[in-house]
Formats: sequence, C-alpha cells, structure tokens
Amino acid sequence: MYRDPVPSLEAPSLQSPTAAMRPLRVGMIGIGTVGAGTFRVLARNQALIAGRAGRDIKLVVVCARSLARAMSVVGKDVALTNDPMQVATHPDVDVLVEAAGGTGPARDWVLAAIRAGKHVVTANKALLATHGNEIFAAARQHGVAVAYEGAVAVSIPIVKALREGLTANRIEWVAGIINGTTNFILSKMRDEGVGFAEALAQAQALGYAEADPTFDIEGVDAAHKISLLAANAFGMPVRFADAQVEGITRLQGLDVACAEQLGFRIKLLGVAKRRKESDVDGVELRVQPALVPAAHLLAQVNGSMNAVMVKGDAAGVTMFYGAGAGSEQTASAVIADLVDVARLDGTRAQQRVPHLGFHPEAVDEQLAVLPRAAVHTRHYLRVPVHSAQQIEAVGAWLAAQHVPVQRVELACDKALPTGSEPQVLVLTDAVAQATVDLAVHALAAHPAVAGPVVALRVELLEG
Ligand SMILES: NC(=O)c1ccc[n+]([C@@H]2O[C@H](COP(=O)([O-])OP(=O)(O)OC[C@H]3O[C@@H](n4cnc5c(N)ncnc54)[C@H](OP(=O)(O)O)[C@@H]3O)[C@@H](O)[C@H]2O)c1
Repeated sequence: MYRDPVPSLEAPSLQSPTAAMRPLRVGMIGIGTVGAGTFRVLARNQALIAGRAGRDIKLVVVCARSLARAMSVVGKDVALTNDPMQVATHPDVDVLVEAAGGTGPARDWVLAAIRAGKHVVTANKALLATHGNEIFAAARQHGVAVAYEGAVAVSIPIVKALREGLTANRIEWVAGIINGTTNFILSKMRDEGVGFAEALAQAQALGYAEADPTFDIEGVDAAHKISLLAANAFGMPVRFADAQVEGITRLQGLDVACAEQLGFRIKLLGVAKRRKESDVDGVELRVQPALVPAAHLLAQVNGSMNAVMVKGDAAGVTMFYGAGAGSEQTASAVIADLVDVARLDGTRAQQRVPHLGFHPEAVDEQLAVLPRAAVHTRHYLRVPVHSAQQIEAVGAWLAAQHVPVQRVELACDKALPTGSEPQVLVLTDAVAQATVDLAVHALAAHPAVAGPVVALRVELLEG
C-alpha cells in the first residue's frame, strides 16, 4: 500500500539565500565624502544589509586620483586604480557606483558602464539633471538599472516614495527645502539678523557651504533636484534646462524681517506643480526664495535640514524630513539603491520599477514647463516710498494695475534699518507672474516710489 512519505522532523538542509547567491560586486569611482561613507556603512552593517539584499554586497575595485588616500580608507583587500574607465568596464563589476561628481567625464563613465551591461548607482544630481534623459534611454536599451536615491535630499527616500509608495496618486505638486546650505544661511539671517554675506561666511566656516558655493546659493543645486522629482511625479522627461531658477544672493535681510512682521518666513523652495486648466496645461518648475506662513511645517525646517512635501489626490499631503547631505546620510541612500540592484539583478527590465516611475511609453514627452509669465502664485511686494502717507496711493495704484491686493501695511520700525525710508508691504491674492512683473516695472516710475521694488512669491502649500 502506498503511504505518503513521513515528513522529516529535521530542518531541510537548504543554504541561506545569502550563501547561495554570489555577492553583488561593486566598482566605485570616487572615494571622498560619499564613497568613504558608503564603504564604512557597508562594512559596519554588512550582515544585516546582506540579509535584506539576499546576498552580500562587496566592494571590489575603487578609482581615485590619490591612491594613497583611497588605500587609507578601503585597506588592501580592494583593488585600486586611477583610471575611471577601468572601473566602469571592469569584468568583475556588476554595478558601478559613481561617487566622483561633475557632469562631463562622469557622463562618459556612466554611459560606458551601461554599454558594458553594468547597473549604475549615483548621487550625482548635476549629472542626471543635465544628462539624465540620455542616460536613462541608454540604460533601457541595455537592460540595466540606474538608481539615484542619493541625488535628492539624501536621508529622505523621496524618489522611492514618489515612484513606489505614492504610485496610486495623481500628484498635484511637490515642494520642498532641498538645499541644506541655503536653508542654513536663511536660518542664520532670520535668527541672528545678519545679512546674506555674513551668513554665507559662517556657513563656509562651519563646513555647510563649499569654497565655491555658486550652485547652492544661486539655486542651481535645488533646481537639479526638483527637476528629477518633477519627472517622477508627473511622468515627464527631466526638464532642468527649462526650470526657472532664482537663488538667495539678492535676498535682503530687510525682507526677512518684513516677512516675519507679516507672519511668514522666507525659504528657498523647489516647486513642481502640475497645472491643467482651460487655458493652461503644463508644469510649473521653479526654485525661488518664497514666503511660507510661519506656522507651516516647512517654516519649522531649520539649519541644514531638508524637507519635501507631496500632494497626491488620494494620499493628500505627505511630508518627509531629514538630512540633505553628509557622508553616511548619503551612504544610506546609495546602499538602499545597491540593495535594490542586488534584488533586481537578473530580472527582466519590464518587471522593475522604471527609472522615472513611469514605463517609457507612459512618459509624456509633450508635457512642458510653463513659462515664467504663466506662473500663478500669491506675492509679497515691498515698495520703498518717500512718505508713509503714500501707502494708500500704492495700494490703489496696484489694484488699478489688476494686482489683487489682499493686505497693505507699513514696515514697522523694528524691521527697518536706521535712516531707511518708509516701506509699504503688500500681500496679494494669487495672480499671474506676468501681471506682477508689469506692475513692478511700472511702479519704478511712480512718483511716490523711492527705490527698487522687491517682489517675492508667497506659497501657502495647503492640503
Ligand atoms: N557630500 C554630500 O553630502 C553629497 C550629498 C548628496 C550627493 N552628493 C554627490 O555625490 C558626489 C560625490 O560627492 P562627494 O561630496 O563625495 O565629493 P568629494 O568628497 O569631493 O569626493 C570626490 C571623489 O571623487 C574622486 N574623483 C573626482 N574626480 C575624479 C577623477 N577624474 N578620477 C578619479 N577620481 C576622481 C576624488 O578623488 P581625489 O580625492 O583623489 O581627488 C574623490 O575621492 C557628487 O556628485 C555630489 O553632488 C554629495
């Protein structure tokens, strides 16, 4: 008579998945802040990362200009070279981590790795903002992944949140403080009442700003990041070249104080907003210093911290907060990408999370960035006048220019430097930028006006 075999009470002698699969072999170009942090965290958390990835992740070769310095970080068990192309095309490498930075040579290394069938992980937002469309197309063609969580607000897994956690949603807007250097400077200007130049000098002395801080203070770095987020949010190509970018170099301490008087704080915001109305169809993609209500969560994000808010039609408003830079903070994102690569390596490309969150045929190549004139927000205006009595004239004149004035008041003495002429402060309702630009231009010739008019956007970022 047939009997089912009696199940053995002994545990089956299966190998653990981590032992069964060969390690994911990593080649790294650059072993500076990000590269060294990645090496350290990989080494420290090796077993738990392998447990999550299903296999070990092993650094096999590193490229740096100074091999002695590289050796002092990674020791003798990792091969060293100063030829980046050797790492990019190395036969023993499954995934290239590009941690050197820059756009020209980095593009060549990344494309060479892709053509050689390697996956790529990078935290290089400048590279992806300028060459991302080309790089993602090449990766699709060669069936490899390009992962870049570290490119935006490093400690915050915002790329994953947009591509995966919020995938059910029609995203209405993404907005955030995505440059720690400028947030540090703006926090100093507000807390200590210092001007931009002094706050920048402090940021440099404390290591929060580079010796050449241009990309940060001119808003370019934030524009790189918001362009990547917009692509993931709306299913559009990376459109950094079309973004409107304004940094904080022209921001005056006087406006920080006047904003405070009105109940606002000034933050450098990256904003990506989908607009689909009867006469407008496109995306506002912009970086600018903007007034945020003092009680708003984003106004509480201080120092070098980052925060991103997303409004989805189903989830509502979500907010993500964390460090925007740092060695191990960036490593956290880079290694998360490596774990993803370890899991997806060997799968069919169609089964993976697409590079920009949408499968290529669903990316809307026609979805364009709206011109500056069409941007529609509330505004703050500061109008220097010869005498305080002219406050009413300014309000009436703006209303006549179709600027929807909501509130008008004089800057109080506390906000004004000694000897300053009176300043009329105006808050408007939402209005097209074109209307504000025309009014500001014309105000310059008004006899009541005593100096350049300042106009800044106001963002309420409501649910
Ligand atoms: N630091 C952060 O907090 C952070 C956060 C997010 C994203 N990122 C991005 O991560 C990338 C790396 O930044 P990082 O701060 O780590 O820079 P880093 O500290 O300056 O390190 C760069 C590394 O790349 C190497 N390198 C540069 N050009 C090279 C070349 N042509 N050939 C070989 N090696 C080269 C350097 O070697 P030598 O030292 O020998 O010259 C150094 O090891 C950048 O794209 C950055 O935007 C950084």
